[in-house]
Parts: sequence; structure tokens; C-alpha cells
Amino acid sequence: MNETLERWSSRRAFILAVTGAAVGLGNIWRFPYITGENGGALFLLLYVAFVLLLGLPVMIAEIMIGRAGRRGPVQALRHLAAEAGASRHWRWLGVFGAFTVFCILSFYSVVSGWSIEFLVTAVNGGFVGASPDEIGAGFEAFLADPARMTFNHTLFLLMTLLVVAAGVAKGLEKLNNLLMPLLYLLLLVLAVHAATTEGFGPALAWLFLPDLSALRPMVVMQAMGHAFFTLAVGACALMAYGAYMPDQQSLPKAAGAVALLDVTVALLAGIAIFSAVFAQGLDPAEGPGLMFVTLPIAFAELPWGALWLSLFFLLLLLATWTSSINLAEPMVATLQARGLKRGRATAIVGVAVWLLGLLSVFSFSSLAEVTWVGDMTFFALVTTVPTEIFLPVGGLMIAIFAAWIMPETLAREALGIGPKGFRLWRTVVRWVSIPLTLVVLVAGLF
Ligand code: PFF
Ligand code: NA
Repeated sequence: MNETLERWSSRRAFILAVTGAAVGLGNIWRFPYITGENGGALFLLLYVAFVLLLGLPVMIAEIMIGRAGRRGPVQALRHLAAEAGASRHWRWLGVFGAFTVFCILSFYSVVSGWSIEFLVTAVNGGFVGASPDEIGAGFEAFLADPARMTFNHTLFLLMTLLVVAAGVAKGLEKLNNLLMPLLYLLLLVLAVHAATTEGFGPALAWLFLPDLSALRPMVVMQAMGHAFFTLAVGACALMAYGAYMPDQQSLPKAAGAVALLDVTVALLAGIAIFSAVFAQGLDPAEGPGLMFVTLPIAFAELPWGALWLSLFFLLLLLATWTSSINLAEPMVATLQARGLKRGRATAIVGVAVWLLGLLSVFSFSSLAEVTWVGDMTFFALVTTVPTEIFLPVGGLMIAIFAAWIMPETLAREALGIGPKGFRLWRTVVRWVSIPLTLVVLVAGLF
């Protein structure tokens, strides 16, 4: 496969596309519940540190490889490895990335299906006047209904694959342009409103006053995994997008902007959600249902609450849509590189992801008692291991390839920055990101 000639139409379009991949369930659903389970501020602190020390430098590395290769991940890695006189086996990193996003997309689609359910309920006024208990009970009833969950999972996956089949770069730009600022604004309104509620003070304390005595290797590992997940780094998914990056653009600047936006969205969501948690006396460690039971309550207090809530779930769906399109891309690109037509590759990916997703669907009903590792249901397994182990391992390999293997001239050109900036980036990746990822992985696993 030769170099792709397709490019995002502008610098802004590239940033928006990467933001679309980054901002999603990771910020609004996963960040609050995992922070809640890990005691709040300490987790937040670690997560922000990992975004700066690992997420951002490795994000730059990953996009840089894609940009230098101008091909799908597997092809780009093979091409660049050949150029560097390194092993052909580097291409397996692309395959590993495809496997990682395969696992992630399977539950991402299911949870996005939950959002569809909440959107429909909100539009129908189903949350008006509902108490936290009633909302929680409604959510439980939904989880116990595999037919409805499967329907929504199928719908969401079809929405995703439709865009993917059409070719990623073009289909998305316009949508991204429209939706990101709106979602941001709505979260801002929600967070500002939270400041007027009694839950706000406790929420801030919970989010920003770390209890260092709670430090455990597992907490550190989860924070690291989440930093990769939220930035969409470590699965060669952004590598696939880097292939379309315009020639004249500073990659570190673009990546920095995305990381900043991503963290802000998570913080705004966290403030809104935890304010509601503390105002209502709910449990921060509620788990994956946290966002779903708190947001309807948080919005209910606003004038026109039902309307805002509907709009919010609509925007959230659009945000998860752009993320899942990015999740599907490395798999489709990998199959395409094996000679399959794009449409057929997309269909194969769709069927496989759909089937795996069913295991998540049934984790809340007929498979609820079936455990896979320890006492984890399939859903618990697939929402942790790929994020907390596969993404960091993939990110580690990407960092090694970018900072140690790739020829310097190629790397520098693809970064689009001067020699000083290049050396700074490479030093950080070589001597901070790589060793830190290794240490945390080893400490967490053993
Ligand atoms: N970054 C996305 C989110 O925060 O929802 C999730 C994600 C997208 C993870 C793409 C990994 C990936 F390759
Ligand atoms: Na994110």
C-alpha cells in the first residue's frame, strides 16, 4: 500500500478530529466513576500527572509515526521499520493495537447504547420529578433487559460503521466542528450551576484535596491506564489519523491543545457529577452507573431541565460516536492493508465487535454470575484489562519505536518542530515516559 494523499482540510480540522477521538465516554462516564472508586483527589492528581508525563508525549509519538508513514498503522510501522533497518516484526504492534480497540469498542458501543436509552427517556420526559432511587431502579431494570440493550448496542454500532465505511477523514469534519463547542458549553453551564448547590464544596474537596495515604500500586496503574484511554493513545488509533495530518502543522502544539481540552472536559463533568453526588448523599463509588444516576438529578434542578438533559445526552452520543469511529479505524485499516475492500473490512469488524459486545450486554443478566478473572464479569474484565494493561503496553512500544528506532530526520520532520523542541520531546519520551510506564506496569502487575 502506498502513501495516502488524503489530508484533513485544515489544521483546525485535524485538531477537531483528534479531539473527537479523545473526548467521549472516557471523560464523562469513565473518569467520574473510576475517580469515585479510587477515592477522588489522589486519583485525579495521578491522572493529570500521567497525562502530562506519558499521555501527551506518547500521543505526539503515535501521531508522528502515522504522519511519517502516511499509511495505515501496520503498513506505516513496517515501512518505517524497514527505513530504519529494524525488524519487520514491528508491524505486530499495529495488529496488537487493532486487538486492543476491538476489545474497547465492544463495550464502548454497549455503554453508548445506555446513553441512547437515557436520551430517549429524557426526551419523553421520563426523568421529570424522579427521585434518585427511582432513576437508579430504572437503570437497573434497563440493565436486566438484554433485548433492549442489544437493540441499542446494534443501533450505535451501525451508526459508527456507516461513517467508517464511507472513509473517515471526510465524513467527520463537519460534525466535529459543530458538536464539540456545544458539549463543552453545556458542561460549563452544568458546572457553574453546580457551584450554587450545597454539593459543590464537598465535591471540590473530594476532587482536589488528595489523601496520600491511599496510594496503592493499583490506583497508580488505573490512573495510568485512564490517561492513555482518555487521550485515545496506545492502540495505534491516533496513528491512523496522523496519516491524514496536513504537512505544515506543529504536532506538539496540536496534541497539547487536545490534551488540555480533554482534561478540562473531564474536570467539568467531574465537578457537575460529584456536586450532585454529595448534594444527594449518593455513593461516589457507585461504579459504572454513576453518570447515569447522577446527571438526570443534576439537570433536574435547572430551569428547562428535561430539555437540557436531552440535549446533553444527544451531544454525549455525538461525542462517543466520533470516538468509536476512531476506535474502529485501526481495525478497518489493518484489514484493508491485507487487501480487503473498505466496505467488506468494515462489515467484518462490525460483526466481530457486535458479537463480543453481546458478552458485555449479558454481563448484567444471564452472565451476571459468570466470572472470568477473579470475581470479574465479562463487562468488568473488558472495561479494565484492555485499558489498564493493553493501552500502556501499546503506548510503551510506540514510544520505544518513535524515540529509539525511527531515524531522527524522519521523526523530526514528522513532528514539525525545530531541533530544540525535538530534543526536549525525545528526552522526555526516552527518560521519563518509557521508564515510568514500565515501572508502573511492573508494580501494578506483580
Ligand atoms: N478517548 C476515548 C474516550 O475518552 O472516550 C476512548 C478511546 C478512543 C480510547 C480511541 C482509545 C482509542 F483508541
Ligand atoms: Na477522553
